[in-house]
Amino acid sequence: MSKSTETKTENGKRDPRNKLNDLTGKEWIFFLNSIELAEGNPELVTGERLNDLSEEEWAAHQAKIIDTLYPTSGSESYAHNIRKKHPSPKPPQLMQRLIEFFTKKGGWVLDPFVGVGGTLLACSMTGRHGVGVDLSEAYLDLYKQASEELGLESQTVYQGDAMHLGEILKDRDYPFDLVLTDPPYGGMLSRKRTGERKKKTGDDLPTPFTEESNDLGNMAPEQFYESLKSVIVQSLKFLKVKGYVVVFCKDLQPTAEHHNMIHADVVNALVQIPNLRFRGYKIWYDKSLNLYPFGYPYAYVSNQLHQFILIFRKEK
Ligand SMILES: C[S@@+](CC[C@H](N)C(=O)[O-])C[C@H]1O[C@@H](n2cnc3c(N)ncnc32)[C@H](O)[C@@H]1O
Repeated sequence: MSKSTETKTENGKRDPRNKLNDLTGKEWIFFLNSIELAEGNPELVTGERLNDLSEEEWAAHQAKIIDTLYPTSGSESYAHNIRKKHPSPKPPQLMQRLIEFFTKKGGWVLDPFVGVGGTLLACSMTGRHGVGVDLSEAYLDLYKQASEELGLESQTVYQGDAMHLGEILKDRDYPFDLVLTDPPYGGMLSRKRTGERKKKTGDDLPTPFTEESNDLGNMAPEQFYESLKSVIVQSLKFLKVKGYVVVFCKDLQPTAEHHNMIHADVVNALVQIPNLRFRGYKIWYDKSLNLYPFGYPYAYVSNQLHQFILIFRKEK
């Protein structure tokens, strides 16, 4: 590579061979870290009296290591006051990081499960074009309100069933660069979340997104995986070759019947799609969640403060 073709920025040099994004070499390497920490590292929990703590002390002690990852009020919250009406909105700043890695400025991003628009707000924040679908008109309205409050351009949204994505996008003749989505895992395992159950087991399932039977979050596992596969197969028709499919996923607590590493099951389902190859994952550690003394003082029950960001690529 001739030096004269490199572009210098304050964060390093841009390589003209990079056709994927606008990152410098330094920014690229930073992104490859499989742990996505938005700020610093958490403090380590130390102390010899760990098992002697009361339940309250345990929780309070754990809470010390939790920082709010992204503010939930003020201008840095990106209209969280509106978005929080959805059971699981994604922080637009997090989606921004993914979009900035997987696309260039002016690129096109598809989100078949928009919700209140974490992905689409991030498109507007980064100079990308977004297109999205959600079953719920109410969530799409909240997304539009959030855009307006933030003074951001609203991206194109369709109220509809992502299972009919091919039909919804049928007139589109320009490929997407990235599919970035956060599917509804909600009621997939058909378990109710009550305060008591949550306290004992750590199950943290969002309440149903909608009451519709075609809401993937209301489906039993087998139907859920088939439906998710169908949505991704249809998305691929509109994705460029070598474009990425990035899917969020949170695991559930293991049971005697199943390990409940939902991310592994999602990968198993999606790698059956011809031409789609699993490329690895990143982990998002959500420091805005509280730690609870699940299982205390009898058994280990994990606090799942992280989510998987599963990364696939359309190969040809
Ligand atoms: C986990 S949420 C997405 C949240 C989003 N990332 C955000 O930032 O708000 C999943 C969304 O998928 C929607 N959904 C469920 N089934 C759907 C379907 N068949 N077609 C389109 N949207 C669906 C739900 O209404 C819900 O808003």
